[in-house]
Order: sequence, then structure tokens, then C-alpha cells
Amino acid sequence: MVTIVKNRRGSPLLLAGLLVALSGGAAPLVLGDKAWAASPQPSMLIEVSADTHDYIKYRMRAMLETYTKVSAATEHNDTEQVRTLIRSFLQANKNGRPANMDSELPEAFRAMNRGVMQQWREMATTQDATSVRQQSLQLLNTCNACHNTFALKKL
Ligand code: HEC
Repeated sequence: MVTIVKNRRGSPLLLAGLLVALSGGAAPLVLGDKAWAASPQPSMLIEVSADTHDYIKYRMRAMLETYTKVSAATEHNDTEQVRTLIRSFLQANKNGRPANMDSELPEAFRAMNRGVMQQWREMATTQDATSVRQQSLQLLNTCNACHNTFALKKL
């Protein structure tokens, strides 16, 4: 069942969403023939303004690119480059952020977003490549948990 979130503040949905988020999101995606038809959809659809929608999607692509470059640097045990990449991603993260964005997003979503940002910051202070590898797997778990829980709908 998909819950459409329109008015988040003080809503019971907020608590429900937080519980979903904290429990690791909806069921993981199933792979195989026609898996897309059988697979559960994200349980919370968040209606957002066009600016917020486009901004979030843009930042998501930046996260994937940063993740890709971080993985490559980790392969070469180049933790200095890992730090540089993550710092530049974090610095650019607030550029052009829509002013009213926070008020459009449920607390459960924002909590997960804070979590993923904290994971990036921790990776940027890590000194050895083995730890970066472990942290980057945990980071991906957060990406997947959020994608399995939330989807966006442009108003
Ligand atoms: C707080 C929740 C959340 C977290 C954490 C999160 N995402 Fe997303 N991501 C979303 C939502 C919501 C969408 C939009 C899905 C939709 O189209 O409805 C999305 C979409 C995307 C897209 C598609 C962008 C596009 O242009 O359509 C990519 C790529 C992506 N995320 C990568 C990542 C990566 C990589 C991570 C982890 C490093 C991550 N995301 C973490 C919520 C999240």
C-alpha cells in the first residue's frame, strides 16, 4: 500500500514513516523475471514542489557519482582522494537548495537523509581503505533502505 504524504507536520503518518525508516525500509527488491511487477513499491509517496523534486534528484545523482569515484579511489587505497571527493560533495550539497524544502519533507525522510550525510562525513575522516570499504557498504544500505521506503511525486 502506498501512503501519499501531503501534510507531514504533526501527522500520525510521521511516526509511522519513522518506524518504517528505522526498521530498514520496505522489503528489499526481488530480482528475477518480471520482478518489477511482483516487487513492493516504496510505501511512502511524498508530494513535493518541482524545485524540491529536481533538487533532490540532482543531489542523488551527485551522490551516486561521488560514491563511484570514492569506490575507485578506495580500490587504489587512496584515502586522501576519498576525503577530497567527499568534502567537495558535502560543500556543494547546499548549493541552490530550495528555501522551503525542509517543510515539504516528512521527518522520517529527513532523518534518513541526516543519517546518510553523517555516514559521508564519517567516511571523510577515515584513515584506512579497509574501513572505508566497510563504511561504504553501510552507506549503500542506507541508500537502498530509503529508496525502498520513499518515492517522490512532483506537484
Ligand atoms: C533520505 C532518502 C534517500 C537516501 C538516503 C538516498 N536516496 Fe536516492 N533517492 C531518494 C528518492 C526519494 C529518490 C527519487 C525516487 C523517485 O523517483 O520517486 C531517489 C533517487 C535516486 C536516484 C535517481 C535520480 C534521478 O535522477 O532520477 C539515484 C541515482 C539515487 N537516488 C542515488 C542514491 C545514492 C547513491 C544514495 C546513497 C549514497 C541515495 N540515493 C540515498 C531518496 C534517498
